[in-house]
Formats: sequence, C-alpha cells, structure tokens
Amino acid sequence: MLFIILAAAQNGVIGKDGGMPWHIPADLRHFKKLTIGKTLIMGRKTFESLPGVLPGRRHIIATRGAHWNGPPGTETVRDLQAVLEKHADSAEKIFVIGGADVCAQALPYCAAVYLTVIHQDFDGGVRFPAMDGDVFELTGRSETLADPGSGLTYEYQTWKRRLRLVIFDMDGLMFDTERPSIESWKEVGMQMGLTITDRFLQSIVGSNHATLQKLFAEEFGPDNRPDDCPSKFESAVALKKAIVARKLDEEGLIVKEGLFALLTFLKKRGIQRAVGTATATGAAEKLLQRAGAASWMNAVIGGDQAERGKPFPDIFQKVLARFSCPPENALVLEDSPNGLLAAAAAGIPCALVPDTNVSTSASIFADTSVSADARQKAALVAQDLREVMEWIRKNFTKG
Ligand SMILES: NC(=O)c1ccc[n+]([C@@H]2O[C@H](COP(=O)([O-])OP(=O)(O)OC[C@H]3O[C@@H](n4cnc5c(N)ncnc54)[C@H](OP(=O)(O)O)[C@@H]3O)[C@@H](O)[C@H]2O)c1
Repeated sequence: MLFIILAAAQNGVIGKDGGMPWHIPADLRHFKKLTIGKTLIMGRKTFESLPGVLPGRRHIIATRGAHWNGPPGTETVRDLQAVLEKHADSAEKIFVIGGADVCAQALPYCAAVYLTVIHQDFDGGVRFPAMDGDVFELTGRSETLADPGSGLTYEYQTWKRRLRLVIFDMDGLMFDTERPSIESWKEVGMQMGLTITDRFLQSIVGSNHATLQKLFAEEFGPDNRPDDCPSKFESAVALKKAIVARKLDEEGLIVKEGLFALLTFLKKRGIQRAVGTATATGAAEKLLQRAGAASWMNAVIGGDQAERGKPFPDIFQKVLARFSCPPENALVLEDSPNGLLAAAAAGIPCALVPDTNVSTSASIFADTSVSADARQKAALVAQDLREVMEWIRKNFTKG
C-alpha cells in the first residue's frame, strides 16, 4: 500500500528554493521512525534536496530525464505512473516522500497521508493542496508539539482514505451463477420429487451450508434415514452441485459487465477488494480462478467461515475483521435483497446491482421483489458494475 508522508505549513507550503523552509529535528526523527526499513518513492528534486541517500531505506527516484541517474544503491524510474500502480496494491507499506509534484500524482493511489502540520504560514513556491475531507478522513491528530530551537509549534495528522475496502458478493453480482443455481434447484426438485417453490428459492439466496440445511428441513420436513445413508438434504445438495457444474461447463462462466473495469479502478486507487459470499471458500476460489478474477482479490471469505449466512451480517463482519476496517469505510456490492439486509445489519453501505438475468429467467426476483424498503437501505441501485464504478469515482475518489 502507498502512503504519503509530508510536512506542510498551514498555508500548504512544503518547500522553498530547493529545500525545506524550516528545521524541526523531532519531525525528522519522526520521519525516520516511520520510514526506516521501508521503500521510499520520491521526485528527482526531492532527492537532490536530501543530504544524501537515507540509510536503511530503498530509494526509488522518478525523473523524466533520459540521462539523469541516481547514485549507486538507488533506483531511477522514468515511468512514475507504472511504479505507483504497481505499489498501490502491494502488501508492503511504501512511502511517497515528496515533493509536491510527485505527491500530487501519488495521492489518488494512496491509502493514507501522514502529515506534519506546522502552525504557521511560510513563503515558498512548492505547495501541497489541503486534504479533501470528502475523500480522506482525519483519523489521528497529536497534541500540539513545540520545537525548542525555532519556537515553531506543529502537530502530526493521519488522513485515511474514507473508502478502504469494497466487498463483492459473488453469485449474481460478479458472475451469472445465480440463474444456473436456481435452475439447478428446480431440476433437483424434479429428480427427487420435491416441490421447489419460488418462495423457497428466494429464502435460500445468500445462505451458507448450515442455514440452507435448516431452511431445507423447514421446507421438506425432517429426514428419517438411517445414519449410514446420505440424508435427503445431502443428496439434494450433491445433485445440485453436479447440475450446476454441468451447466457451467456447457454454458461457460459468464462474468458480469464491468467487473474487470471496476477491479482495475479500485486496485489503482489503493482500495482493497474482498469477496464475501455464502458459497464455501474453496468453491468460490475455484470460480474466481476460472474467471481470472482470483488475483484481483485481497481476500475471499466464504459461507463456511461464518456461523450464519445472509441476511445475517456474519460473513461481512468476518471480512471487516480480516481488514481491521470500520464498517463506514467499506462498501458492499450485492445483487440480492438478502445480501443488502446482511450489509445493513453489519452497518456497511451497500450498492445493489439487481441480477436482471435472474428476474427475467426465473422470475423469483421480479424487480418489485427489491422492495421500496430494501431500495431505501441501498446507497445506490445500479444497472451494472460500470455504473457502480462511476458512482465510486464521483463520491469517493473524485478522479
Ligand atoms: N516538507 C516536506 O515534507 C518535503 C518533502 C519532500 C520535498 N520537499 C521539498 O519539495 C521541493 C521539491 O518538490 P517538487 O514538487 O518541486 O519536486 P519533486 O516532486 O521532488 O520532483 C519533481 C521531479 O520528479 C520527476 N517527475 C515528476 N513526475 C514524474 C513522472 N510522472 N515521471 C517521471 N518523473 C517524474 C521530474 O524530474 P526531472 O525534472 O528530473 O524529469 C520532476 O521534475 C523541495 O523544495 C523539497 O525540499 C518538502
């Protein structure tokens, strides 16, 4: 992940005549403490403003000059954009240390900004713009500190990106797998002599294995087979799995419109991506691999990792815990009312992309089934994932 670390005067000035307009030794020690052992990305001008190579840190220096090269032990890059894109999604904590030019280009990719704010205006031609409170949130602020040498007072601020994590439901949201699933249940019903109603199908969307077993027993009664025979439930689930697999082989796995554009957009902005699905983790990972989407995800949490399925919040709460992300800094993408209710119960805003393939082919999610109440719970009701991407761009990243 990328982080910016800068010291700025209260009027935004960070540099003057190729150097810094102040000298605060304690702030330099603070900078060293945060960055020691880490990779630093900087502009050529910032590098030239330093006393030399900073010990114990990897230096990546950006220049457009074909002939400029940093000293031995540093790396010189000419395509800053590519470097930022590459590192925005890495697990490693990487610091962009200036100057204003390079930080302005890095800001859209950064997860957080560590800012030392000096409580005074300074003259100087190099400025870093004020933090945009709509995109970043002030999550940490030190007490006012004083530099005995200069008499300057200052504080440390931490600004974190408001939208840090997008949680994707899988079936019906990323892939057109809800429809084959519903069709398969109907086929199971025919083969096993069970009446599969639309109401039952609606109730099981988002259920993990345990919840499904409970709903199945409620619908089809207790299973009185001997212990050494597979239960009616286990037989139905195995048959359904086999039919879904056959259908996917025959039809291919259909990826929903805009998925990869959205994943690319989020990755480039340092926003983490996770799958939170009722499907068991192993099966979900297989499907993600098959679609070429596995490497785009930072985590996959399946129904087997949560006690209860959707509409309970357990799966989404697991994802939040995995990323130590507060619910208000996450966004859930869902296709079904059950998923929307689960997101609401977890306190996470939700963008709903109703699965039109399901509503037209199986008619169990006729558009009206996304009730007015459910729609009100949704932060957005979108046609497809491209619309979600544009909405995130406008509301959370401004670019
Ligand atoms: N207060 C602080 O915390 C702090 C921190 C760092 C720096 N500073 C101060 O900030 C000033 C320097 O900042 P600055 O904004 O003028 O310059 P800078 O961002 O340090 O460096 C700009 C240079 O980086 C290279 N560069 C920029 N974009 C690039 C891209 N897309 N691809 C490849 N190379 C790219 C170019 O080098 P070429 O010209 O070689 O092509 C460009 O001239 C100095 O006064 C320094 O002391 C203050």
